[in-house]
Amino acid sequence: MSDLENFINALPKAELHLHLEGSLEPELMMELATKNSIELPYKTVDEIRTAYDFSNLQDFLDIYYQGMNVLQSEEDFYALTMAYLEKVAQEGVVHVEVFYDPQGHTSRGVSFSEVTNGILRALDDGQERLGVSSELIMSFLRHLSEEEAFATLNEAEPWFDGRIVGVGLDSSELGHPPSKFLRVFNAAREMGLKLVAHAGEEGPAEYVREAIDLLQIDRLDHGNRTIEDAELTKQVANLGIALTVCPLSNLKLCGVSDMKEHPLKEMMAAGLNVTVNSDDPAYFGGYMTANFISVVEALSLSKTEIAKLCHNSIEGSFLTDEEKAPHINRIADILAQH
Ligand code: ADE
Ligand code: ZN
Repeated sequence: MSDLENFINALPKAELHLHLEGSLEPELMMELATKNSIELPYKTVDEIRTAYDFSNLQDFLDIYYQGMNVLQSEEDFYALTMAYLEKVAQEGVVHVEVFYDPQGHTSRGVSFSEVTNGILRALDDGQERLGVSSELIMSFLRHLSEEEAFATLNEAEPWFDGRIVGVGLDSSELGHPPSKFLRVFNAAREMGLKLVAHAGEEGPAEYVREAIDLLQIDRLDHGNRTIEDAELTKQVANLGIALTVCPLSNLKLCGVSDMKEHPLKEMMAAGLNVTVNSDDPAYFGGYMTANFISVVEALSLSKTEIAKLCHNSIEGSFLTDEEKAPHINRIADILAQH
């Protein structure tokens, strides 16, 4: 293992932008397809990997929704979630706040409770067996209607006793601005939930402004295009909310043509609380450490900058100050030793 990889793995980190369905590795996809008698348009794991060649977000989403068809039972969601936790526990990820897309499953006849309980059981076991703490965030598919989002919010209410801590907004961004979900987000806030939303991944800075001003989100997912608007950048920096940036995702979905052109360093320099995350690691070629290495090497980030990104991830999480403190202190200690 390289010095850089050792350093990154040693630092405590939180993953704040991870779609569980996007951690479905081709091997598990094939295994579940066979078990559940689901026909896939691929014969081998290699064929699946070859199909992962995307020109934009929609290209990827078409394959991502097709892939999740193999997830049929509570056990399948348990296996998916546990496989993810086992991977990241080896990379120094101490806390995760993961997304899932219940509408992608209920629309196929898999019940909300089977999906959610399978995930939660794995998160509980992951805390106990691997020492990775976690929170669960339910995302609304923005290409669907406000009415469908409200139906999902209402169905999820029994889990708002601390098991589902927040709601998010994902799927096709262009043409589906945050304002479309203003009333749903207002209702979620009144139910005591945390609010996050994808904005400024492919969509313009104006979508970030809507997510901040109208939805009043607690955290911004991606947010890369924020820096196209200097006034908005100042506003987001002053608010101090975290941005969950996903370098390999941005490269694979052609948000940047080369990692050397990634705006992460510029975003940090503008005072934004940037974090590094993996988004859909099974589709984009790497988990947390791979995302760090790709951007650190391309942008020549210093050890201080790497530690700052880890610090931001802990600070930007929904952990309490007491829960954050030991991780924050360890990051400072490790940096001091280097
Ligand atoms: N769903 C899964 N990954 C996503 C992404 N990167 N953007 C929007 N929706 C998603
Ligand atoms: Zn995402």
